[in-house]
Formats: sequence, C-alpha cells, structure tokens
Amino acid sequence: MKRTVVTMPGDGIGKVVLPEAIRVLDKVGFEAEYVHGDIGWDFWIQEGNALPDRTIELLKLHKLALFGAITSKPKDKAEAELAPALQGKGMVYRSPIVRMRQLFDLDISVRPCQSFPNNPLNFIRRHGNGFEEPKVDAVIFRQNTECLYSGVEWTNPPKQVRDALETHPAMKAFAKVPGEDLAVSCRIMTRGACHRICQAAFEYAKKYGYASVTVCEKPNVIRETSGMMEAEAKKVKKDFPEIALWSTNIDAQMMWLTKNPEDYGVIVAGNMFGDIASDGFAGLVGGLGFAASANIGRDVAVFEPTHGSAPKYEKLQPSIVNPIAMILTAVMMLDHIGETEKAVRIRAAVAAVVVEGKVRTYDAMHLTGGPDVIAQGAATTQQMTDAIIAKL
Ligand code: NAI
Ligand code: MG
Repeated sequence: MKRTVVTMPGDGIGKVVLPEAIRVLDKVGFEAEYVHGDIGWDFWIQEGNALPDRTIELLKLHKLALFGAITSKPKDKAEAELAPALQGKGMVYRSPIVRMRQLFDLDISVRPCQSFPNNPLNFIRRHGNGFEEPKVDAVIFRQNTECLYSGVEWTNPPKQVRDALETHPAMKAFAKVPGEDLAVSCRIMTRGACHRICQAAFEYAKKYGYASVTVCEKPNVIRETSGMMEAEAKKVKKDFPEIALWSTNIDAQMMWLTKNPEDYGVIVAGNMFGDIASDGFAGLVGGLGFAASANIGRDVAVFEPTHGSAPKYEKLQPSIVNPIAMILTAVMMLDHIGETEKAVRIRAAVAAVVVEGKVRTYDAMHLTGGPDVIAQGAATTQQMTDAIIAKL
C-alpha cells in the first residue's frame, strides 16, 4: 500500500534535514506520496498563524507526518516581525508544536536514546587507567500534553483563583505575598493520560524485550500528580509480570544516568520530567545530532527530531548539520506503521557509518560549528546522507 505522508520541514535546518530523510526513505524502497504542509515562523509573519488551518486539514486527512523544526521567538520579537497589516490586532504567537500536540491529542512522546558503537560522543566511564563505554539503550516515554505544559498559569492570579488556592492549608506560607509577586503554574495530570503513557511504555518494553520500566517522577514530594503516575504504573504492571517496575526520583535519575545509564530500559514520566530525562539520556548517546522523537495520538502520529531549527546554520552552503537525527526520526515512523524491515535496514546503515567513523559531521568531531569545519575534515549534511545510502 502506498502511504501518504505529510511533510512539514518548518524553519531553519528543518528545511535542510527533512529532504535528506526522504532521500533515505526513497532508497530503502519505502513507497509514499509526500504532501507538503506549511508550518513555522514564515506563516506567523505572513498570516499570524504558525500552524495554518490547511496544514491541520492535511494532518486530519493523512494522519501521518514528518516534521523538521520550527523557530520561535520571544513575545516582543514575534509582534515586531508580523506583517505590517497584521500588527496591532492582538495576535498572539502560539507554538505550532504545542498546538499540534494538543489539537490531535498527541499524548505519547517516545524518545529512544540508544548509543551506536564508536560514536565519539558516547558516554564513557573511567576506571583505573582506561575507560569503558557501556551500551546505553533507554527509551523515554513522556506524557506530552499535560503537567506543567497544560498552560494553566498566572502571575497575579485572579481573585477566585487566589481564594480557591487559599482553601489549601499549605497556601498559608504565601498568604502575605502580593498578587503581582505571586506566580502559579499548575501541574495538572489526569488518570487517563497517566494510564495511557504507562500502558504504552509497558507495551513497548514487551514488544522490544526490555527487562524494566522505570517510572521517573517524585511521588515522595509531589504526592498528588507524581503519585497518580506511579499508581497507574503499578496498575499497568500487573498485566506484564515479566517486566520489572522500578521507580526513581527525577533528581536521583539525573545522577544515576551519569553513573550507570546502561541499567535503564524504558522510562516513563510526566511532561516536564520526561523532557528532562530525555535530554539527559540524549546527551549520553550523541546529543541533538542523533536524537529522534515521535508524538503519537490515537489517530495521528507526528515524527520529529528533538533538535530545533538551529538558525545560525540554516544558510550555510554546504550545510554542516547532522542529518542522522532526522533519518532516525523517519526510522521511527517506519516502525510505527509496521515497515519494520526497512526500519531495521536504515538503522543498520546508520550504525555502519558511525562504526566505520570515516564520515562524520562536525558535532561528532567535537568541533564548533561554522563554515570552516569542512576544511577540518567534517562531512557535509549531504555527504553523511550519501554515506548512509551507500551502506543501504
Ligand atoms: P537548536 O536545537 O536549534 O540548536 C542548538 C544547537 O545544537 C545548535 O546551535 C547546534 O550547535 C546544535 N544542533 C542542533 N541540531 C543539530 C544537528 N542536526 N546537527 C548538529 N548540530 C545540531 O536549539 P536552539 O538554538 O535553542 O533554538 C533555535 C530555534 O529552534 C529557536 O527558535 C527555538 O525556539 C527552536 N526550537 C525548536 C524546536 C522544535 O522545532 N522542536 C526544539 C528546540 C528549539
Ligand atoms: Mg526538551
């Protein structure tokens, strides 16, 4: 069956890396029709909407998308860059990614952090006179729509809110704080969403043979929300007797990942702690040039690299950024739709290029990005893709 995939390159290097992933998909024999979707800063400037309705319609229709990256800028810059005709109309910039996640209830974010042997950016551990390089293979399941990202927040909360808060005994500590000096961001979590992310984490662990699922929250202190996540994890675990359930606190988890990251398999967390844990683990396996992610809802799934639009590299000719994050993102899409054999082949091709170590982009050479990295032996974006394609 020929698939239709909505491609949303977005801004900056999103426009550079997304076509590279398509080159790899073509080469592996994935038959698809690609339909372009507008998203990002240009559409904010021209239309006052970074996620135009026509793109939303495309996503509704085709349900499967590859996304590059977007640029977002602070409030004052956003207003200043709007087309003159749109200025002063009270338009408010909203992140198209956050909107997309909420509109389509893309509540499950999956972020695999798996090291490729011989990647010079891998985590290493010193012992005696030498070092060891444990294989890191953690997959973070991050609840993608709730928690501190729910958007329910105030500085100087309205009276009803303040009154409601003051019904809680712990608010006594803040009783004397003037409204304008009081900021409140609500950490809202629902049982259904906690259950779904835990269920997805366990199913994944079972499908791919992970021995454990670790719920990474802070239930000893954040008793209600973290407590709910942990309680749901325990319920779900009952259906997976062969998989261990561990619980770590987010702060301790950050320490463990600098000591024994190889001990962890699937990790599940709310939005904020999932964000932190996934960046932490990504840093052990190559960082932004290697980090892929999926946003999965009941109907729609959107796949994107973790990195942003890196505007400073957008116009560099030739391009120097690492296309591997975007290519691994396409691999996640293939896995999701059951094109497992093609996914395995691309991953193996990426691994083969990394192991060989002949073709490396600047990030994997520990260089500072800039036009001179090519003269220092770094591969261009296109050369890296070519090397992967050659291995296919
Ligand atoms: P960024 O991820 O765009 O770049 C940070 C740095 O990481 C870059 O300067 C570069 O040194 C490195 N980097 C990123 N991708 C790379 C790649 N493929 N290969 C090699 N090196 C790579 O984050 P930054 O600079 O904080 O944000 C830039 C813009 O991107 C902002 O407007 C921000 O709002 C947006 N952003 C968008 C995201 C998204 O679309 N999902 C996520 C993060 C930031
Ligand atoms: Mg992040």
